[in-house]
Amino acid sequence: MDTVLSGIRSTGNLHLGNYFGAVRNFVKMQHENRCYFFVADYHSLTTHPHPDDIHENIRVVISEYLAAGLDPEVATIYVQSDVPEIPELYLLLNMNAYVGELERTTTFKEKIRSQPENINAGLLTYPVLMCADIIIHNADKVPVGKDQEQNLEMARRFARRFNHIYGVEYFTLPEPYNFGHDLVKVPGLDGTGKMGKSEGNGIYLADDPKVIRKKVMRAVTDAGPQQPGSPMSEPVANLFYLLELLSTPDTVEHFRSQYNDCSIRYGDLKKQLAEDTIKYTTPIRERISEIYHDDDYLRKVVKMGAEKARESASKTLRDVREIIGYRPF
Ligand code: ADP
Ligand code: TRP
Repeated sequence: MDTVLSGIRSTGNLHLGNYFGAVRNFVKMQHENRCYFFVADYHSLTTHPHPDDIHENIRVVISEYLAAGLDPEVATIYVQSDVPEIPELYLLLNMNAYVGELERTTTFKEKIRSQPENINAGLLTYPVLMCADIIIHNADKVPVGKDQEQNLEMARRFARRFNHIYGVEYFTLPEPYNFGHDLVKVPGLDGTGKMGKSEGNGIYLADDPKVIRKKVMRAVTDAGPQQPGSPMSEPVANLFYLLELLSTPDTVEHFRSQYNDCSIRYGDLKKQLAEDTIKYTTPIRERISEIYHDDDYLRKVVKMGAEKARESASKTLRDVREIIGYRPF
């Protein structure tokens, strides 16, 4: 059984891309692996969020992941800042992370461009904290998107370096987790490219029906198929892709055959897509709201998660301190 770990950004709601591209797979995976899912709220401090937002963001993120199907009885779901062993390991790892290699990290270089007024040391050592997150549980596999691949590579490097310096084979080198057949890329509603937060082309699990209808009805299409067999443009193919994710096979077939004989009306397709999206997301949206308002339940979940996470983390830290040379009198 593998140990799989995923860090979740503590800001931003889940859109259908996150859901079908990642979270739905986590829900399946949690039964087949030892899974750790945590809210990376220390990482978020690099952008200096307002104190009022920190707690609120964590509450939203946890509510959405639980509503989407992560099970706190099965997986270990916790908040990073509830596990003090993580920052301690981070401090220890920092001693063997070199400024030169950290400065060359793509995510750091991007931050220099995007927030030149706030290039703090936390940003520079972001990959070290990420490494601590991962190796504190000796994770074998880490599901990451493209933008995090280099950070995971750095984590492997720091883990390998620790083993090398101390002549031990203590840390597992974490591998990227590949969803294989389950890998999907969800397109956005703006015609090209994938659904993404920053692209502003997404449907969110928490969107209410009115919002979903409005977004879907505004989705980009084309002038319609000109003759039977004419190839599908990207915007229309994207709508069909979403339909396949959210509707029944009969519905998809119905619109495909209309497309093929050029009788399709995109307005009808969009109406159907909107209603089927609403049908799909409504139980999740309602559950998000229930969990979000249930202080007792949330308190119980994060407490249980922190206990389980600390059990594993404190064992690692005891070993690491011993290896480094901090020994009890
Ligand atoms: P965003 O691109 O909106 O900022 P994130 O980078 O936070 O989303 O993505 C978190 C996870 O969701 C990653 O594992 C990523 O691969 C997955 N994901 C995001 N957008 C999509 C998409 N359009 N299709 C499939 N998976 C996606
Ligand atoms: N940096 C990741 C992101 O932006 C979040 C993250 C923090 C993470 N620590 C991690 C992901 C450890 C995987 C493993 O998405």
